[in-house]
Amino acid sequence: MPEALIEDFGRTVVAWQKRHGRHTLPWQNTRDPYRVWLSEVMLQQTQVTTVLGYYERFLARWPQVTDLAAATLDEVLAQWAGLGYYSRARNLHACAKAVAELHGGEFPRSAAGLQTLPGIGRSTAAAIAAFCFAERVAILDGNVKRVLSRVLAFEGDLARSAAEKKLWDHATALLPEHDVDRYTQGLMDLGATVCGARSPDCLICPVQPLCRGQHQGDPTRFPIKTKKLKRGQRENWWLWVERQGQVLLQQRPATGVWAGLWTLPMFDDEGSARAALAGATPETLPRIQHALTHFDWVLHTLRAEAPDGLAQNGCWVAREKLADYALPAPLKKLIDAR
Ligand code: ADE
Repeated sequence: MPEALIEDFGRTVVAWQKRHGRHTLPWQNTRDPYRVWLSEVMLQQTQVTTVLGYYERFLARWPQVTDLAAATLDEVLAQWAGLGYYSRARNLHACAKAVAELHGGEFPRSAAGLQTLPGIGRSTAAAIAAFCFAERVAILDGNVKRVLSRVLAFEGDLARSAAEKKLWDHATALLPEHDVDRYTQGLMDLGATVCGARSPDCLICPVQPLCRGQHQGDPTRFPIKTKKLKRGQRENWWLWVERQGQVLLQQRPATGVWAGLWTLPMFDDEGSARAALAGATPETLPRIQHALTHFDWVLHTLRAEAPDGLAQNGCWVAREKLADYALPAPLKKLIDAR
């Protein structure tokens, strides 16, 4: 990579961040690794606007990492409910416990040290280390892969780990000598606000003069990633039974989709769902479509007063207590709507 590109790129991103980047997000203007870590984990697969409320509620309830470590996993899952990708919540809790128990309540102060903790990958570790400890390390999350692969017209197929490693090397080579924290935030801001996946706003992009992807005519050709996710389909039936204002919930197994969360009793087909109702006539609610990473889920709901012969175990929960349980977002929406 030419020296001039390296110098111009870093300088331009830093200057642009100063004038046009985001400065008032609640996890900025702090060097507290607990606050930065929490935001980075929440932001891994969730948009800023959704994260804002969750972030404030988490910090209000658990102001320090040791408070979070002292919580139960069920409490953490209940607060996380609706953010999706629940392994993040389990790792969050495991990480807080590791910091409290193995590191005396202090996060390690380097990217290498941070990366040994549950749920902290290379890019998240680098982001925390750059923001909190001004360490000169590269991040490479989804947004940054897009920005860098376009600027460099990077032809490697990111489905292949060798290509991904090469892009990491480029990301490291591009790091400026100083202001790595501002540079890191600038890359994130560029990816989020200018270099969009489908319609990059090249006219206002500060690095447009340096962008090889743009010069070639079609920056959206990058990043190149061949492996297409084969999406499956799934269909299930939920049974919504109530008895004296209480709803029957069951906890999902510890692994798999929505692991550890609470849902209505779930069946693979309509026949078994109806059979469990022991003769009661249910109301059929509008079906729910829910997209997960690997499949599209169609959920049907049958609703009835609990019959005497109901053959289901689980936990009867009063409606006003439902907020204490980690319910997946579509179920929360379904119940809140009725
Ligand atoms: N996405 C990931 N990290 C972020 C941050 N620090 N600010 C805004 N969006 C982000």
